[in-house]
Amino acid sequence: MDFSTLCIHGNDNKYDNTGSISVPIFQSATFAHPGVGLSTGYDYSRLQNPTREHLEKTVAKLEGGLDAMAFSSGMSAIAVLMELFSPGDHIIASDDLYGGSHRLFFNISEKNGISFSLVNTRDISEIESHIRAETKAVFIETPTNPMMHVTDIAKTAHLAKSHDLLLIVDNTFLTPYYLKPLALGADIVIHSGTKFLGGHNDTLAGFLVVSDNELSERLRFIYKTAGACLSPFDSWLLIRGIKTLAVRLDRQQETAMKIAQWLSSHEKVKAVHYVGLPSHPDYEISKKQATGFGSMISFETDSEETAVRVLSKVSLIQYAESLGGVETLITYPMLQTHADIPKEEREAKGIHEKLLRLSVGLECAEDLIHDLKQAFEEE
Ligand SMILES: Cc1ncc(COP(=O)(O)O)c(C=O)c1O
Repeated sequence: MDFSTLCIHGNDNKYDNTGSISVPIFQSATFAHPGVGLSTGYDYSRLQNPTREHLEKTVAKLEGGLDAMAFSSGMSAIAVLMELFSPGDHIIASDDLYGGSHRLFFNISEKNGISFSLVNTRDISEIESHIRAETKAVFIETPTNPMMHVTDIAKTAHLAKSHDLLLIVDNTFLTPYYLKPLALGADIVIHSGTKFLGGHNDTLAGFLVVSDNELSERLRFIYKTAGACLSPFDSWLLIRGIKTLAVRLDRQQETAMKIAQWLSSHEKVKAVHYVGLPSHPDYEISKKQATGFGSMISFETDSEETAVRVLSKVSLIQYAESLGGVETLITYPMLQTHADIPKEEREAKGIHEKLLRLSVGLECAEDLIHDLKQAFEEE
């Protein structure tokens, strides 16, 4: 079945016999047992819930995985994932990461005895040189948030396997529509489902997807114990959002390309980071491992003054954190998504007062460009 069909029919509605086209919202915390020692397959909604299960099966199919777990946010998915590791373990992670993952690693996981090396994961030899006896995993985002660095997943997976390490890929930016990390050799895929999967800026959600039985069992145990599961109603919103994933992304990407090209020729823009531009240093690897480039753009303005003016003057585009929804959002990573990263570390990566991030939504490209144009103009 084609991906776009799977978005709609990835899991048949076997949950009621009314003929309902939309999967029911099973707003129940618990489920009655038909007899002693018997179960309908559903005991308690922290463990399983039919609406959430429908969503999880759909996401597992879209990623080509065996199991998907739906969480109350992307961060809760990553926090549960960290429970796979023990004090003394070491993880190699991309040196450009969503600020929340960075905060979790260095403020919580590290306190629990797990250490991290942040490296340029675009360079396989860099990853290899940081592997030590305690290393248990490589954690990458690709493209990274916000600098849009791309890591070669197949090569990294090969290296990880040869050292018995887990390869974990945060696939939030491209989604399985454009990138299938499990097929390229990754062990675990992460999503902030809040973004493109939900797609409407109205729900928080997260996912872990695996293709291995043993990993699924280990994570399911932590999942039911930690209890950061997605509610039935939010699961339904995600199911609804995913139905239009492919068409949304196609249009968002088309518009993002037009905006990236427009930004590239603007005199007050010094650099445009969009993996779909042939000038992007990771364009070739993006083309090789993904079927699309997505709709996330970061760009550097000529001055802090210009960046602040753009943020203050956009009107159709909204100044807000988050991404992947139908509404176009502009973000100031330095003050929002990456505010908790130490200044020097952040600035060394290019996350400074001149960097803006754009999540291109579904509005007409010309309207968005018109809005940006007036926002750049001095009064
Ligand atoms: C790449 C990436 N991963 C994970 C997260 C965390 O997801 P959530 O905000 O749903 O907790 C985000 C949030 O922006 C993100 O951009």
